[in-house]
Amino acid sequence: MDKFVISGWDQLNGKVRIHGAKNSALPLLAASILAEEKVVIRDVPNLRDVRAMVKIITELGGTVIRSSEGMQINTVHLNSGTIPKKLMQEMRSSIVICGSIINKIGWVKVSPPGGCAIGNRPIDLHLKGFKKLGCEIFEKNDEILIKAPKHGLKGAKIELDYPSVGATENVMMAAAQAKGTTEIYNPAKEPEIQDLANFINALGGNVKGAGTEKITIEGKQSMQGTDYRIIPDRIVAGTYMLAGAITRSEITLTNVVPEHIRGLANLLEQCGVQVIFGEKNVTISAKNRNIVSPKHVTTQPYPGFPTDMQPQLLAFSCFTEGTSFITEKIFDGRFNHVPELRKLGAKIEVKKQTAKVTGVSVLSGTVVEATDLRAGAALVLAALGAEGVTVIENIDHIERGHESFDEDLKSLGANILRIPKNQITHLSNENAY
Ligand code: UD1
Repeated sequence: MDKFVISGWDQLNGKVRIHGAKNSALPLLAASILAEEKVVIRDVPNLRDVRAMVKIITELGGTVIRSSEGMQINTVHLNSGTIPKKLMQEMRSSIVICGSIINKIGWVKVSPPGGCAIGNRPIDLHLKGFKKLGCEIFEKNDEILIKAPKHGLKGAKIELDYPSVGATENVMMAAAQAKGTTEIYNPAKEPEIQDLANFINALGGNVKGAGTEKITIEGKQSMQGTDYRIIPDRIVAGTYMLAGAITRSEITLTNVVPEHIRGLANLLEQCGVQVIFGEKNVTISAKNRNIVSPKHVTTQPYPGFPTDMQPQLLAFSCFTEGTSFITEKIFDGRFNHVPELRKLGAKIEVKKQTAKVTGVSVLSGTVVEATDLRAGAALVLAALGAEGVTVIENIDHIERGHESFDEDLKSLGANILRIPKNQITHLSNENAY
């Protein structure tokens, strides 16, 4: 895997356009299987996870073409429901393809996605949802077969024990072509759920209430193609907002939905950062400002503070005055960035699910390792604010969620280089590689 070499302490300046949301692109690509015609999805980011989803669709008999006009997906000739184990392992969210395949093929065979770097990631809620819609589930060794009833799925009332994003998406896709009405109680309310509902409706489906306590889906037997633009990536936007705050800079992000990043913006304002929203853009300014700690933050399902921003917020807290307590409530193993941030001089103690961060006057560059996507993004942020040169290894993880991160940061004035894995790195301020 390549590395990033970042020489920190430069102020950033300028504008970045935020690309489409990875966490919308993946379920929307999966949902395009519901259509009986070609579908076009615009602003799909060119990321490893997206490429993995495309591989799955093509493996099953679909075709996907990327052009300047967006991504064209044609699954009319999809002919298999077996997702190869290797592809399941490449990306955990490949599980969200099940709901639409069951409608098209009548069955789907997957291997359990298992744990990952951020903790245990079961799929019991997905399976419970499929069962409620009439599916039979057969589990054997390393294989799960989900089979629709002979005459198709039947709408049902489904109460999720937890508002899981993936389970809500899977049930929505499965219910979209079930006979009758499905009601999902306690669904996830994330903006990506609302995007998926809008997309299914654009295909001719009937989904109401996404973003609220109850989603109602009227099954439609046949669905047409559409031309759809996905929402911007709120996590990428938030990561740049924190980059601006850490480097005490003023930067503008275009192509954002203010509503989706309002929570982080409010928190940053409480810390002393100025945030100015336009219709589809946001400017954050931390120039010459005294930035204080965010104090107590707990990750929660939307509209609470997103777990996908926790590592980056933790990195930001290192550069603030005072102490922060950051509690992770969604995933059980999401503090992999802590030992790496400590190598840079951060003062962080973790007890159970809470990290206590004491702001320090300076972090100093060294060699660190990205262990997962958001942990890696947190290290990039810390490196931008640290004195000297930081080398971040294993950046493939970061590139699962950020398209042209280094190029965009460079355009803002950051001193960042991407170098091949085996190139020897000299840690010196003069030559950052
Ligand atoms: C999605 C996002 C991910 C984000 C997460 C939480 C995508 C592609 N990924 O992941 O970036 O971090 O939402 O906002 O959209 N759970 C169960 N049983 C299940 C399913 C989930 O116990 O069947 C638990 C998980 O272990 C976890 C919690 O529910 O503790 C949240 O998981 P979930 O909302 O399902 O996350 P994902 O959809 O996997």
